[in-house]
Amino acid sequence: MDKLSITGGRRLEGEVTVSGAKNAALPILCASLLSSDTIALSNVPALNDIGTTLRLLGQMGVRAERGNDGTVSLSAAQVSSLEAPYELVKTMRASILVLGPLVARFGEARVSLPGGCAIGQRPVDQHIKGLAALGADIRIEHGFVIAKAKRLKGASIRTDMVTVTGTENLMMAAVLAEGQTVLENAAREPEISDLAELLIKMGARIQGHGTDRIVIDGVDTLHGASHRVVADRIEAGTFLCAVGATGGEIMLRHAAPDTMGALLDKLQEAGLQIECGTDWIRCAMRQRPKAVGIRTREYPGFPTDMQAQLMALNCIADGTAVMVENIFENRFMHVQELGRMGARIDIDGHTAVVTGIDSLSGATVMATDLRASASLVIAGLAAKGDTTVERIYHLDRGYERMEQKLCAIGADIRRVRAQEAA
Ligand code: UD1
Repeated sequence: MDKLSITGGRRLEGEVTVSGAKNAALPILCASLLSSDTIALSNVPALNDIGTTLRLLGQMGVRAERGNDGTVSLSAAQVSSLEAPYELVKTMRASILVLGPLVARFGEARVSLPGGCAIGQRPVDQHIKGLAALGADIRIEHGFVIAKAKRLKGASIRTDMVTVTGTENLMMAAVLAEGQTVLENAAREPEISDLAELLIKMGARIQGHGTDRIVIDGVDTLHGASHRVVADRIEAGTFLCAVGATGGEIMLRHAAPDTMGALLDKLQEAGLQIECGTDWIRCAMRQRPKAVGIRTREYPGFPTDMQAQLMALNCIADGTAVMVENIFENRFMHVQELGRMGARIDIDGHTAVVTGIDSLSGATVMATDLRASASLVIAGLAAKGDTTVERIYHLDRGYERMEQKLCAIGADIRRVRAQEAA
């Protein structure tokens, strides 16, 4: 397994181009199942999760052509299988996003249930409840969700909690349903709006995306469209936290600062100087960070996907920060590893109390999930001495060429390939 080898203490300086958002690209790729025409996408990040999704769609008969400039063109004219097998779903929970489109267009789907996942239980009961409300005959058998419907029928659906992929799945199902669907308590994440914008270009009738009440008037068919995937706010935020921890000054290009309000506020509170244009963010850090408390919330609140990275910053901040994780029950797995680098963090249930110290010390640490890995990289960049981050396959699922982008702004970071290490 590849590792990252980091020598800490370098200031970061220069420009970074932000990639397209993984969490927008995944549902958008699945939306190609909704039409027999071609969907032409750009700004699709080169990530392992994207490769997995393309393999999954490929097995179903979707033809995909991938350029090396982030373009992907998809045609679901000849879908031959309506099944998502366990082997692919177990590596990527977001595979559940094929469920809504398959039932909506083909009246049938057989999708493996995702297994448990490191950061929490993450059930898909709301996806199932919503599809049942749309009239699907849906049951769980031998570890698969099996759904059938002649044609889905619009309905009013209120999910028990705010769920991002749940909202996306139900929105994709409802666009081809007969009549009107109202999704109440819908998630408001920018990635949902990005998906809705693609669907509207395909001929869907959707209103209210970006609010907690989405109204969808079903249509009979959808046609082809082109779309550029929105910028990755979590990747951008990760680079900002890195500069906050090391000091320096960077310019993020192709960013979407209007999707990053809560995070930018907190980083300013931590002492970063931030200036934004429509698609760029300039940020400078010239002092020791100040401790900042957060509570993770659904968008537009502070994102759970940035909790671990901000924690790395708090580890070396002046003061004590209280960080509350409200979305996932087990998302503090980076805490133990940060502790190996000298961090002082106490956990009580969903709350972490981080007491800032002068500096972390490099160590060998193990990545446990995607955003935890990013947190360890930030800690390594700021630490004294050498850090090795093991098991970075998690990082490769969600960050495009992270070490190359960091190298280009002055970090001393190198990938040690599995063969090299052996
Ligand atoms: C998405 C993001 C992930 C992010 C998360 C929260 C993608 C591909 N992934 O994950 O990066 O961390 O939103 O912002 O976009 N829940 C249920 N039943 C359900 C669905 C969800 O109990 O049917 C619970 C989950 O266990 C969790 C909470 O609801 O506690 C929110 O989960 P959800 O918004 O669905 O997360 P994902 O869509 O899986």
